[in-house]
Amino acid sequence: MTESLLIKPFRTPARGVAQVPGSKSITNRALILAALAEGETLLTGALFSRDTKILIQALRTLGFVIVDDEVAGTIRIQGNAGNIPAKEGSLHVGNAGTAARFLTAFLALSHQGKYAMDGDVAMRARPMSGLLNSLASSKTFAYTAEGKPAQAFPFVLQTTGQLKDLTVDASASSQLLSALLMVLPLRAGATVKMSGETVSEPFVVMTEKMCAQFGRPLSRDAEGRWFCANPGAYISPQVYAIEPDATAASYFIALPAVTGKDSCIRLQGYQPKGLQGDTAFAEVAKLYGAEIDYQGDSARVRSWHNLRGGDFDFNQFSDTFLTLATLAPLADKPTVIRNIAHTRKQETDRLLAMATELNRLGVKVEPSPQALQADASLSSLTIYPSRDALRKTAQGGPTSIHTYEDHRMAMSFGILGSYDLLGDGTPWIKIEDPGCTGKTFPRFFQALAALRSSFVSIAIDGGAASGKSSTARAVAQHLGLMHVDTGAHYRTLTVGLLDAKATPSNLASVENALAQFKLDSALCGFSSRCVLNGKIASETEIRSPEVNASVSAFAALPAVRNYILNYQRSQVELARDAGFAGLIMEGRDIGSVVLPNATLRIFLEADAEARRLRRSTEGQADSIAQRDLLDSTRAAAPLICPTGAVRIDNTKLSLAEVVQEVERLIAPALAVS
Ligand code: CDP
Ligand code: CDP
Repeated sequence: MTESLLIKPFRTPARGVAQVPGSKSITNRALILAALAEGETLLTGALFSRDTKILIQALRTLGFVIVDDEVAGTIRIQGNAGNIPAKEGSLHVGNAGTAARFLTAFLALSHQGKYAMDGDVAMRARPMSGLLNSLASSKTFAYTAEGKPAQAFPFVLQTTGQLKDLTVDASASSQLLSALLMVLPLRAGATVKMSGETVSEPFVVMTEKMCAQFGRPLSRDAEGRWFCANPGAYISPQVYAIEPDATAASYFIALPAVTGKDSCIRLQGYQPKGLQGDTAFAEVAKLYGAEIDYQGDSARVRSWHNLRGGDFDFNQFSDTFLTLATLAPLADKPTVIRNIAHTRKQETDRLLAMATELNRLGVKVEPSPQALQADASLSSLTIYPSRDALRKTAQGGPTSIHTYEDHRMAMSFGILGSYDLLGDGTPWIKIEDPGCTGKTFPRFFQALAALRSSFVSIAIDGGAASGKSSTARAVAQHLGLMHVDTGAHYRTLTVGLLDAKATPSNLASVENALAQFKLDSALCGFSSRCVLNGKIASETEIRSPEVNASVSAFAALPAVRNYILNYQRSQVELARDAGFAGLIMEGRDIGSVVLPNATLRIFLEADAEARRLRRSTEGQADSIAQRDLLDSTRAAAPLICPTGAVRIDNTKLSLAEVVQEVERLIAPALAVS
């Protein structure tokens, strides 16, 4: 058990990009589907946890080529069009339920394969028989070491590669059904039927939606049998963005309810009607008073305008009931949370644990903890708000919250403790065993602390290929800043100017063309992209040899620079409004002209040979020396190292080293004392 953690209330608005891990369920499904696809898939936003690492390792053991990058959150996997390279192997699935079930069905696709499968002691006790019995009907058998039919781990799986008309009892776990649904499209004519009910409908829906995203939608016939009308290997979407974990995201939807006016949090990749059932929490939160809107593929949560109690059925997204329950003591009227009997058999009896700990803070709940203890069939909770009662308890010092080895208890009370109850920043909640968040969100308390940031503006300048874009992009992602590449602005204008047949030597042609332009911005991930007359020019267009040859000549014209200056400065407000912790803008004149009052100004340099080499490694034919000369000798906003800027010569530094150095420089400015 780790020591308890005193939660420091927020005294300034919460702001920034919440560092929510990727969804485990989606990451492990995507790994299986990508392995069964034709072609390579890049998974972004992937979760790196014990369970996903087990599946990655198992797929490697089976001969799949996988390159993972934990820092970037990406996994590149080479699909094998439904074939499993290794015909034999020994796999250990730990206590990873999805890996255990998904791999077993996956291996059944192997023609005449033989695989030794084992798991941790806990996994040996978890349900597998529904799946193993189903596969046995297609002559894929699981044997114990004694040669008897196996019903659970460990076993040796002897496969035929066939899948016929399968029937599965998935009453013990919906994963048993999901595992079979994912392999269904690989065998023409195969069908799957359930023999009973399944417990978690939303996870089956997630599987169906993902099969469709990988090009093989499933259908159901009148008798409820699943089949794939267009069978074959999955089709790689090439890049597949894993949604952030919706349950983990619920804490950051809740945070601006307690951190006051002007809070603004960004949830990258969070979709209202996403693949995960727990995204329904966002709807409940809105009824309660949350301010949530969606920008592109991301959500923005601002200070809640209210905390309105009410009556809510959490049956279908019960993992998030704890998040709402810990806001309920601050609401304007009682909150009823219904239909959560099944949560009494999860990590702990969650209903009882929640009632007990709210009680400890002085909050009245019904049924009382005693009644809950006496009657295991009780399935709802009513929480009566009272800030006065909370304050009275807090006068006696911080309350120590028991977490019962339940990560969700620790995280939800962490949000409540962020509320400045006493109005002077005095901590009033202590979380016991905060390390229990490790089950799904090891860095939860760091992610919470990162939202205590003040808005920063970072200017990066430097010559061509000095590493500005790659450094700024990585720093933006790590620190939750909005990235602006002003070189791309000049390149986009150049595309438009060349289209309009303007030339740098004919000023009137340039001015006439500019008068027809309308500039806008679109957020793509962490970057703000320039939209010219309603269109984002592609990377190929803005980096074409024609653009490379004339961009610096156009950029040297004061008419062009004046035209774009206000647009560039307006990016600061865009970043603030979108909930980023700040912005990082790179170019040639950012620290000197565009943002002379930036929080931090950095000048990147590398020697000419290193920069020439970098460009040629990228396969770009670009006379950077010539562009550099034009950029630094022009009259208007020449490339210079602004006074007061920090110079970083990265000739001999790797990209990771420069990124680390820039982040070290930014950190003190971001932190709120
Ligand atoms: O990436 P690379 O260094 O090749 O160039 P870029 O950042 O895409 O910028 C292309 C050109 O735009 C530069 O060579 C400059 O002439 C111009 N530029 C500028 O004048 N001022 C800026 N703030 C950014 C780019
Ligand atoms: O934006 P800018 O033109 O300044 O350069 P960049 O496009 O960020 O970097 C050019 C190339 O140099 C990229 O392929 C970077 O990965 C690489 N680079 C490097 O190898 N080492 C560094 N310290 C910085 C960048």
